[in-house]
Amino acid sequence: MNPSRLTILAEMGLSPVWVRRDAPPVAPGSGKTAKTGLPASAVAAPEDHPAVAPAPAEMPGSARPSGIAGMGWEELRQAILACRACGLCARRRQAVPGVGDENAAWLFIGEGPGAEEDARGEPFVGQAGRLLDAMLAAIGLKRGEDVYIANAVKCRPPGNRTPENAEMAACLPYLERQIALLRPRLIVLLGRAAVNAVLGEERSLASMRGRTLAYHCGDREIPVLATYHPAYLLRNLPDKAKAWEDLCRARALMRGPGQR
Ligand code: URA
Repeated sequence: MNPSRLTILAEMGLSPVWVRRDAPPVAPGSGKTAKTGLPASAVAAPEDHPAVAPAPAEMPGSARPSGIAGMGWEELRQAILACRACGLCARRRQAVPGVGDENAAWLFIGEGPGAEEDARGEPFVGQAGRLLDAMLAAIGLKRGEDVYIANAVKCRPPGNRTPENAEMAACLPYLERQIALLRPRLIVLLGRAAVNAVLGEERSLASMRGRTLAYHCGDREIPVLATYHPAYLLRNLPDKAKAWEDLCRARALMRGPGQR
């Protein structure tokens, strides 16, 4: 690959780019990635990386540690890293537990790691992540400062497809424990999959946004807002205005009654 292509991919947030030495030529008409719209081959770490041994056939549901509901942050992180509770573990480079301030008031939840997140072990570090950082900055927030970022599933779905309900269900105990440890003041769900995972709602994102929803955590009801996933916004620029409305609503909620 010549430097100018590398530079362009870096500008687009699609670096670093890995090229397997033994990679076969890409077949004409091969698929595009769901989240970037770019050919899967152009995106770092395609799903065929040779990272880990395949999971045993009887694995789903059988290889998640017990006692998640009683774990502290570090134990939870280790459990996620070692998890083999669903088929996504077979093709991950690594699991991506979450990132940020463990005392954060704000919790943002996305769908699942993409190629760059799978490579770096941190959520939202690719192109969508750069937009998320800009969205945070627009309301005076910064990754890691009073903000925690997690995903509905902790392992990259092959080809960046939407996680299946069974995969989100297998991963839910980890997310529930993250929420319970964090006890955030507000949860912002990024996209339909996150809404589905956290609230069990399969309705359209458009029908879920614009109102304050609730997540029950022990004796507490945590307010929840749903907004568009940054990867969706990269493809649907006009909806950025609606996302901005949602962010203003979130900021107003956090500031208290009558505040904008
Ligand atoms: N999209 C997500 O939903 N999560 C990530 O971590 C990255 C992209």
